[in-house]
Amino acid sequence: MNARIHIPLASLVAALVALALTSPDVVAADKVDPVADARAFQNFFFQKFPNVKHEDFVNGPYSMNEDMKRQWQEKEEFPPYEFALEAGKEMFSTPFKNGKTYADCFPNGGIGIRQNYPYFDSGEGKVITLELALNRCREANGEAPYSYIKDEMASLTAYMAYTSRGKLMDIKIPDDPRALAAYENGKRYFYTRRGQMNFSCASCHVQSPGERIRAETLAPALGILNAMPIYRSEWSGMGTTSRRFVTCNSQTRAVPLEPQADEYRDVEYFPVLRRQRPADLGTGSTAMKLSLGLAMLLALSLAPSARAASEADYKAAYAAAEAASKEAAGMRNQWTVTVSALAAAKRAADGGDFGRAVAAAREAEALAKASIFQAVSEKEAWKAMEIR
Ligand code: HEC
Repeated sequence: MNARIHIPLASLVAALVALALTSPDVVAADKVDPVADARAFQNFFFQKFPNVKHEDFVNGPYSMNEDMKRQWQEKEEFPPYEFALEAGKEMFSTPFKNGKTYADCFPNGGIGIRQNYPYFDSGEGKVITLELALNRCREANGEAPYSYIKDEMASLTAYMAYTSRGKLMDIKIPDDPRALAAYENGKRYFYTRRGQMNFSCASCHVQSPGERIRAETLAPALGILNAMPIYRSEWSGMGTTSRRFVTCNSQTRAVPLEPQADEYRDVEYFPVLRRQRPADLGTGSTAMKLSLGLAMLLALSLAPSARAASEADYKAAYAAAEAASKEAAGMRNQWTVTVSALAAAKRAADGGDFGRAVAAAREAEALAKASIFQAVSEKEAWKAMEIR
């Protein structure tokens, strides 16, 4: 197969969204709502795949295909990642030249803590991933950093994840505007189209889970990061989260970022990508528990509106948005951002703030229209794609 798809969609989406955001003061207040995002994101998958058990999504491609699932379960009897686990354990307990170990750098000696990464460091104002923390530990102890892509880093994180098996993922978004900004940035990265093929992470992992690219079945985004690092026969070994991101970017002929670039770190911090994954081919720990500055988020969503609009304006805008959204749902391409915007409109209207309600409804309508366009234009284009 040879395909170079140029779908001129990004510009259309941008135009539609720009149109909808003509009153950004209003929409912005509703934008950062990780709790609503998580709920909408989850519901999207539950609706799109009514036959998949909720706790099964975290099993990635295996949740989408019974045959694959069986093969995977057979493999688990002699897991191919066992070697990496052993190596990781050995490395973890071997002292550096200065006599210290990794255990000296981490809470609880580094055991059973994987579920807390990535976290937002308020001193630095940035997201810190486990891989980054490991290399910082090495450098602080006079050792050279490891490659973020494979081998040692994958083994080390595999071992640390293994010690967290059975724990719930616990990504916290503290009450800090910089943490919310990092969250937003990660979310934006996830939904932004890029590369020659003009695909976002969501194009493959939200819109198309279960579809095939060559021999591969696409994993659903819900909980997609839980299993990392992961063993892949194609790699003949383990790969880290960074390796996966770089590979996924390259598949759409986008220029990958440097491993551990801010945007990759922020996308790891998009908590809907981590959920319960009780048993997996990777070594990953389990389930996300959303812990958020809820009170603060509520306060944000109550920010006052600057514009005047009537209830009738709202009703008209909402009806238009709802109709478009239903049409998108009928095409099985209702975006979670659309659902969030609709919910935001309703919330604002319930609170009597019709200015904000109208703006959010218009945003929802624009997003729904963009998703309809996407569904139509990508329906077939997808299958013709060549992935390297
Ligand atoms: C062209 C489609 C495509 C795009 C776009 C894409 N990926 Fe992937 N992704 C794949 C394929 C194929 C695999 C391997 C099969 C699978 O597990 O889905 C994969 C696997 C993954 C996995 C491992 C899942 C598992 O359980 O094995 C993660 C994590 C991931 N992608 C994240 C991302 C992120 C983040 C982005 C955006 C930067 C992205 N992907 C963009 C195709 C894509």
